[in-house]
Amino acid sequence: MKIALLGGTGDIAEGLVLRWSKAGHEIFIGSRSEEKAQTITDEYKEKLASLGIEGQISGMANADAAKAAEVVIISIPPEYAAATISQIKDSFTDQIVVTPVVSMERHEDKSFVYNPPPQGSSALEIKEALPETVRLVSAYHNLPAKELSKVEEDLDYDVVICGDDEEAKAVVTKLTEDMPNMRVLDAGPLKLSAMIEAITPLIVNLNIKHKRHFSVKFV
Ligand SMILES: NC(=O)c1ccc[n+]([C@@H]2O[C@H](COP(=O)([O-])OP(=O)(O)OC[C@H]3O[C@@H](n4cnc5c(N)ncnc54)[C@H](OP(=O)(O)O)[C@@H]3O)[C@@H](O)[C@H]2O)c1
Repeated sequence: MKIALLGGTGDIAEGLVLRWSKAGHEIFIGSRSEEKAQTITDEYKEKLASLGIEGQISGMANADAAKAAEVVIISIPPEYAAATISQIKDSFTDQIVVTPVVSMERHEDKSFVYNPPPQGSSALEIKEALPETVRLVSAYHNLPAKELSKVEEDLDYDVVICGDDEEAKAVVTKLTEDMPNMRVLDAGPLKLSAMIEAITPLIVNLNIKHKRHFSVKFV
């Protein structure tokens, strides 16, 4: 598939780009800066080449990446995600959009807590910024970027998703299963995204306390 990652130059994007390239997808790295997108694209291609994989990756402005893709991942920090979408709203038509966005704040004692926007979750805030023709799926909030980027290792994680369009969730399920060993669990409609997003600060606190890179597995 043609997959765009807005803010595709950042931490969570790297592992997704490398793993989906390995699975043969065509990737568009979006950025506020075309030059930065191109530099990071070259780095990703080099990493893939060292594994004997020829990645089909191009770097460009966020708006162009969104236009070029069938599936768009919003890999932008929570405070800028909805604003960035609003700025390039005309680039969206009928794509499937995926949000891994989680809004957290750090307290004085250094613990992280979930800090959703007034809409109730980052997913619902992002839905408000997108045209109604776009189908939004909430996914990937609980994946640790560092482990995800170790593309030679398969990750035995559960990915909990939610959304209001069954076909869009089926596409995201297939894309997730293209990253070997990952299992998708559909939690239901988009309004439940807060429950998935809220797990992330728990994982981050556990990772800091236990010096690990935990994710989620339901047994
Ligand atoms: N990191 C994780 O382990 C992880 C795990 C699960 C979910 N997430 C979620 O995934 C999203 C991305 O996280 P991340 O850790 O990958 O973030 P990040 O590395 O800090 O940033 C990702 C990209 O966002 C763009 N960006 C930064 N400031 C911006 C601004 N003011 N306006 C527009 N774009 C801006 C930058 O791209 P350009 O400079 O190229 O424009 C940057 O490379 C977040 O919403 C986070 O909650 C992260």
